[in-house]
Amino acid sequence: MAGIEQATTIERGACAKVILCGEHAVVYGRPAIALPLPMLRARARIEPGRRAFTIVAPDVGVTVSLWRHSRLTRNPLARAALAAFEFVGQRPPRATLTVTSDIPVGANLGSGAAVSVAIGRAIAAYFDCALPPEEASRLAYEVEQLHHGLPSGIDNTVIAYEQPVWFVRGKPPELLDVEIGAGLPLVIADTGIATPTRIPVGDVRAAWERDRDRIEGYFNAIASLVRLSREALERGDLEQLGHAMNANHVLLQQLGVSCPELDALCNAARSAGALGAKMSGGGRGGNMIALACDVTHAKALREALLHAGAKRAFT
Ligand code: MEV
Repeated sequence: MAGIEQATTIERGACAKVILCGEHAVVYGRPAIALPLPMLRARARIEPGRRAFTIVAPDVGVTVSLWRHSRLTRNPLARAALAAFEFVGQRPPRATLTVTSDIPVGANLGSGAAVSVAIGRAIAAYFDCALPPEEASRLAYEVEQLHHGLPSGIDNTVIAYEQPVWFVRGKPPELLDVEIGAGLPLVIADTGIATPTRIPVGDVRAAWERDRDRIEGYFNAIASLVRLSREALERGDLEQLGHAMNANHVLLQQLGVSCPELDALCNAARSAGALGAKMSGGGRGGNMIALACDVTHAKALREALLHAGAKRAFT
């Protein structure tokens, strides 16, 4: 696919994500539900210039000269860019691509996948090409595999489609008709502990290798709760969704991927009247989610979570 090179600056973005239910079990073929967080974004801006294609990420003090990298580089920024150039069938132009992001790193909010999708979209747009969601997802999945060896593909999918998804590994996503807000008053709160997803994912894999029957039992129980959550979402039954979230959290504790700080925030949310609360994503830090009764209650819940030690919380 060859498009027309743009002479002007191009900027494209991609959203963060949160897992509503089903994390970890989704790596082993069970369903999970993920939601986009459009208010938190990564951005990639390409400015034509004189120097060979260079990627800069000023927030983290990184500069990458693309010519130093081959197509299978393990540098995530270069890998995303080279995959995008391959997709558009173009060589890297003389330009600088600047990456910025509001998405905290290591917080299980999909910052890596969002950066990859933003880079892919900006490079495609620079050559006046569209990057369809399935291609953006494929590109980000390639980079996700550098971060942890066993990604299910849920993060890149929800971010590339920027829509709530019912996700089963290896199948096309089903797009769901829900939105965080009045219909789904969720609060997301960050422990402030940055943990790379590969650590809890690797520990679950080690436990699964030691005792498959027990761990598969947890995955099956989580899968039942995910189905229950979908039914609850479709009926607008927040109480049932809250119960499923609480039960999902217990199973994640039993899998060993929660931590005292996540448990404390979940307990604080329940004490403040949340219908349900659970850790979200890889765990051992990162974020938890709490389900409020309505949007007014969500604001009070956010305050309660900040008071209980959350480093950030938003609705
Ligand atoms: C990470 O957002 C969700 C996990 O299930 C890992 C994955 O699905 O690749 C923990």
